[in-house]
Amino acid sequence: MTRKVTKAVFPVAGMGTRFLPATKSVPKEIMTLVDRPLIQYAIDEAREAGITEFIFVTSRGKGALEDYFDRAPELESSLRAKGKTALLETLEATNMDSGAIAYVRQHQALGLGHAVWCARHLIGDEPFAVLLPDDVIAAETGCLSQMVEAYAETGGNMIAAMEVAPEKASSYGIMDVPPSISRVLPMQGMVEKPAPGTQPSNLAAIGRYILSPDVMRHLGEIEPGAGGELQLTDAIAREIAEKKNVYGFRFEGQRYDCGSKAGFLQATVAFGLAREDLRQELDEFLVDMVASRHAAE
Ligand code: UTP
Repeated sequence: MTRKVTKAVFPVAGMGTRFLPATKSVPKEIMTLVDRPLIQYAIDEAREAGITEFIFVTSRGKGALEDYFDRAPELESSLRAKGKTALLETLEATNMDSGAIAYVRQHQALGLGHAVWCARHLIGDEPFAVLLPDDVIAAETGCLSQMVEAYAETGGNMIAAMEVAPEKASSYGIMDVPPSISRVLPMQGMVEKPAPGTQPSNLAAIGRYILSPDVMRHLGEIEPGAGGELQLTDAIAREIAEKKNVYGFRFEGQRYDCGSKAGFLQATVAFGLAREDLRQELDEFLVDMVASRHAAE
């Protein structure tokens, strides 16, 4: 029997340099896709998957994130007085139960692995999920829910996997897996940002993980890796070498890299088109825009 996953870590301490100057004062996770900040998509996905304890690893300048999950009594009473019940319900979704959310500080941006390790005392001896909010995944059943289901059958550690073009492999953690079309793939190794042409496969890890407490232990023991950062990938690679109990998981859904400008724009268009209240206007605009660009060429 595998232990139920109820805790999730959200590493949000990165500097978000690709979105400067915006991220000088606005945390990347507060940037909005249509009308919800990136972090809300990740929280909703985690809730759907049965997560009840939410651990944010933050850094200086992320105060807006804490405020976002706080109540807004003046705003609520003003909406109530005006009878704006639909907007009140929208606000409800952002409220977290007292004690459900915890914040720990990463004092220096030493890498994703280090950020996750900062949550070690809150995780204790339990399996836990990690969600990177800048990976937004549109799916009928949330990506983490799909993984929790697979994890209940397999146990071990589960990492969301996505095929990437060979020339993009050097931007990701790449899985060493046997060629197979199965959804759950036993991993033989994992390498962070492999040099071009050396990647063991085209399967990249993206920002959803279910990890055992042993991976947390490895995080406390590894040395800085690619880019001089403490890499989560290196701790996972140790776990594979020790126990061979790490699996890549091909999820169903469309992932958007909202940590990059192009990915964020694509997600904005896709999520806008998915909304009934916006679809027609946006669709007409895009068609006109493309037509006039073609005409100008
Ligand atoms: P990124 O590699 O996207 O880095 O981090 P970043 O700082 O957020 O953005 P850029 O590259 O400068 O534009 C991936 C995830 O890991 C977290 C980030 O917050 C993001 O969710 N992270 C990264 C940390 O929490 N701490 C770190 O030291 C590094």
